[in-house]
Amino acid sequence: MKYASQRGTRDILPDQIRSWQFIEATARKVFESYNYAEIRTPIFEQTELFLRSIGDTTDIVSKEMYTFTDKGGRSVTLRPEETAPVVRAVIENSLMGQGELLKLYYLGPMFRYERPQAGRYRQFYQAGVEVLGSADPLVDVEIIEMGVRLFEELGLKDLEVDINSVGCPDCRPKFKEALKKYLGAKVGSLCGDCQKRLKTNPLRVLDCKEPKCQKAVDSAPSSIEYLCAACKADFEKLTGYLEQFKIAFKVNNRLVRGLDYYTRTTFEIISKSLGAQNAVCGGGRYDGLVEELGGKPTPATGFAIGLDRLVMVLEEQKVSIPRADRLSAYIVTMGDAAKTKGFEVLRGLREMGIKSDINYQGKSLKSQLKTADRLNAEFVVIIGEDELKRDIFVVRNMDKKSQEEVKFDDLLATFKLRSE
Ligand code: HAM
Repeated sequence: MKYASQRGTRDILPDQIRSWQFIEATARKVFESYNYAEIRTPIFEQTELFLRSIGDTTDIVSKEMYTFTDKGGRSVTLRPEETAPVVRAVIENSLMGQGELLKLYYLGPMFRYERPQAGRYRQFYQAGVEVLGSADPLVDVEIIEMGVRLFEELGLKDLEVDINSVGCPDCRPKFKEALKKYLGAKVGSLCGDCQKRLKTNPLRVLDCKEPKCQKAVDSAPSSIEYLCAACKADFEKLTGYLEQFKIAFKVNNRLVRGLDYYTRTTFEIISKSLGAQNAVCGGGRYDGLVEELGGKPTPATGFAIGLDRLVMVLEEQKVSIPRADRLSAYIVTMGDAAKTKGFEVLRGLREMGIKSDINYQGKSLKSQLKTADRLNAEFVVIIGEDELKRDIFVVRNMDKKSQEEVKFDDLLATFKLRSE
């Protein structure tokens, strides 16, 4: 019996991990420099949390959740996203200070039972931020700018920021009605799912990926036309700031996003290097969610970046990834006594933080040296019976192909000098 990873999941192997570590380290650095603090929440939550927040008629909730009953009879769900868990954690742990802004970030796996394709997985990874406590569009600008800055730090090009406003509970019903009316006349040209969506959640027709539905919504009314005075003023402020700070953007009237909690600002960052799944970052404002989940009314905004897609863009654009440090020393020994001596030296090198390893297999000298070559070791320390007797090591410089004899007592000092 051979086992394989589950459909839509994959192993990230050692030769790919540098890109991931580079992205994760850069994301942490950028988020921390904007004064965001990391939060980690459990991988699974009570199912109800996602029904209440993402919305039970969205694709995520109605089709894509990994939901199961645990041995205690509770319905739990692997998190399909991290905004709702963060809001739950903020309320549960009373993290909101009076009148304070809470700025959080996270990195981790999410789970959606989607049809796998390039850039779309069932277990995928996000790096995201959430800011709670301000309705100021300047905060939206801060996070959009932070996303753009992160992509710049990574050396990415050809990105586009799309923005929109989906209004608030005051003006959205009017937009929904107009959309319903418009789509009602085209019901025959919608996919089966969208015919249902038209009744339950017409906004979701706008982000259906079916070509015929995209065609049907081509000249549908846009949410911007239906904004109330307050939402309109808010959107004008947002675009005004973006212009003032020279953050390039495009207004995209179709950008309603696939989650129900959004209010006002929605945005995505698109990579022109990717195919159909080209959104590398998606986010927006969710001013009603904290209250909906049982907290005090608290405006909030945030985004999540899809790391799997970011890795693809990095590869596509051939961005050079900082390489792992080279192995400084590889210890090659002949015979048991030499191996034990070698291990002692290894411990000393590691204590000094020098990247080093030893050959445990006890193969021939030639084969051990071959391994050292494959590992790209800078130096090889050789200990055989003769060296043991003479109280010396042979240290071979693998680049210069030269070697010297170093006294047992001097070896660590020699490496220490070299690493300083
Ligand atoms: P989302 O648009 O569902 O938003 O996901 C954000 C990003 O995660 C997407 O733009 C994409 O890059 C990546 N992503 C989503 N699904 C997959 C998948 N199946 N495979 C690979 N990558 C994927 C959210 O999750 C919101 N929680 C974002 C947010 C935070 N809004 C406010 N705060």
